[in-house]
Amino acid sequence: MSDQEFVLSTQEWYYPSDEIVNQSHVSDYEAVYTEAAADPQAFWAKRAETLEWYQRWEKVLDESGAPFYKWFVGGKTNIALNALDRHIKTWRKNKLALIWEGEPGDKQTYSYWRLWQEVNKFGNVLRSMGVKKGDRVTIYMGRIPELIIAMLACAKIGAVHSVIYGGFSEHALADRIEDAQSRVLVTCDGAWLRGSIVELKKIADQAVHRSPIVEHVIVVKRTGQDVPMQAGRDFWYHDLMSLPIASPNCETEVMDAEDPLFILYTSGTTGKPKGILHTHGGYQVYTSTTLQYAFDIRDEDRWWCAADPGWITGHSYIVYAPLILGATSFVYEGAPNFPYPNRWWKMIENYGISILYTAPTAIRGLMRFGDAWPKRHNLSSLRLLGSVGEPINPEAWRWYHSIIGGGRCPVIDTWWQTETGGFMITPLPSVGLKPGSATRPFPGVIADVVDDDGNTCAPGVEGKLVIKNPWPGMLRTIYGDPDRMVRQYFSTYARQGWYLAGDSARKDEDGYFWIIGRIDDVIKVSGYRLGTAEVESGLVSHAAVAESAVIGVPDEVRGNVIYAYCLLRAGFQGSDALVDELKDHIRKEVGPIAVPTKIEFVSALPKTRSGKIMRRVLKARAMGLPEGDTSTLEE
Ligand code: WT7
Repeated sequence: MSDQEFVLSTQEWYYPSDEIVNQSHVSDYEAVYTEAAADPQAFWAKRAETLEWYQRWEKVLDESGAPFYKWFVGGKTNIALNALDRHIKTWRKNKLALIWEGEPGDKQTYSYWRLWQEVNKFGNVLRSMGVKKGDRVTIYMGRIPELIIAMLACAKIGAVHSVIYGGFSEHALADRIEDAQSRVLVTCDGAWLRGSIVELKKIADQAVHRSPIVEHVIVVKRTGQDVPMQAGRDFWYHDLMSLPIASPNCETEVMDAEDPLFILYTSGTTGKPKGILHTHGGYQVYTSTTLQYAFDIRDEDRWWCAADPGWITGHSYIVYAPLILGATSFVYEGAPNFPYPNRWWKMIENYGISILYTAPTAIRGLMRFGDAWPKRHNLSSLRLLGSVGEPINPEAWRWYHSIIGGGRCPVIDTWWQTETGGFMITPLPSVGLKPGSATRPFPGVIADVVDDDGNTCAPGVEGKLVIKNPWPGMLRTIYGDPDRMVRQYFSTYARQGWYLAGDSARKDEDGYFWIIGRIDDVIKVSGYRLGTAEVESGLVSHAAVAESAVIGVPDEVRGNVIYAYCLLRAGFQGSDALVDELKDHIRKEVGPIAVPTKIEFVSALPKTRSGKIMRRVLKARAMGLPEGDTSTLEE
């Protein structure tokens, strides 16, 4: 957003109706925020008391090993106890936990009872394969109920799940299996996307070939095409689930509050993905509180988080938080514009969805098709809207608010990260909104925008976004690399002990936060987080490429797209055919989301004298902007 746009937007207010304010869990943000800020531990302890624990904690927060914080120390629980076990003892046993629609139009529903039973059965299947507390299980599937069942089954038996997004390729999958040392992989034959099949089992086979640590592959039949099954290694999910070992009763493993729940890989500044680790105790408190307060979840709601369960948004707000709150979630398998651009609006009408939570890239993508598509449908069931993944431009915000929300639904723009576990800066339904601002921090969170010395920036001045205190949903470590966690997040402001988010931001006169974007070598493409280094090493692994540099260039729909600059090895000539070959190579090595929009062959890359590629210079050139300070540029 330009400076002028920023100044104008900071003055543009939208207020919720009295009805929304009166109904919401937090009708007075100011009061709750102030109370939580005065004593965050007391605030979180009170929230933790709304959940079940096998044994109560002795200490809310242990800061002795900071930044390796421990929450609810001594507490015994299991997130599955709160997400499933406790509900089947109440009337919620009969409530719908999940409503699912496949891309071809097939439907499934799961009551809490049915979901609990399926999870129990699969928990027993995993146990029969020797999966024990603490073992890692990799899950690589499309957006189908069995993915959710597999995650919950792992949690229930104390195994650590590592879900790999279905858009990643064999290489990325193999690396992550290797890093987590998973002996079991759960996948499916294929996934539906825009009417065709993504052959997940085939990709999984190639990955297992690269990472022979995998002993068992469990395959859900979804698309039904022929897939090779390796005797002794591969098993059909439905076969296993009909064996006597798949009993519908499965004891929930008693977990320490700080025992690991899952690893989720995300991109950082180096090519090696970071395995962000979250735990049972703090994460369940944080995700359920943030969802309840920010989206005001009620029993009659039909909540639709349109993310993929393979990302943190799906982990926290499709799987765990809604189930902990006993909510009804809607999940859709496929593409938003398949077969027509009204697919989403039609489903909102058909299912009576009351809250839609999605990403700006999806909003912009659907906005492109015009107002006529949503206007064909009755969207009056919607009460709240949400946005996540990247800054939402005011224009898309206004369209979402007026055309989709009929002008009556507040847009809850949630800023957070894989590392934070849940929302950090977000409106609650009762606060005044400004399009493009994630508004203010969640109660219990102290956020700020600071300069390099740690001084708070004046209103309107860009600086680094930091979190100044620990929160229960924060990452506990980077799996297998605790030093990297300290270096990455806690070294920039080591003296103050602040968490560095990696984003730049501004605060306005009213204390509202405006996120600008990443300050590290991370690019957000359609809301997906990619490291420049991942794409670059993918390119360099091709025989023709000696060196490469990758940048993100702003794009109207996707937020950013990737431009890649390649220096070829001697004997290779740049050509259109080579561009296509390199794109294919990236699709295979990293995944379809990482494929550059543009690949340019160059004879040199701008570098500093110490040899660091100056991506800033490439970006300025690509966008036709001044190159800025190039005094460190090598001649
Ligand atoms: C990065 C984290 C957290 C779920 C999805 C992304 C960007 C996220 C917003 C927002 C502006 C946002 C930031 C952040 N981001 N939400 N509402 N406004 N930017 O998780 O893949 O870990 O990415 O996404 O740059 O650092 P993630």
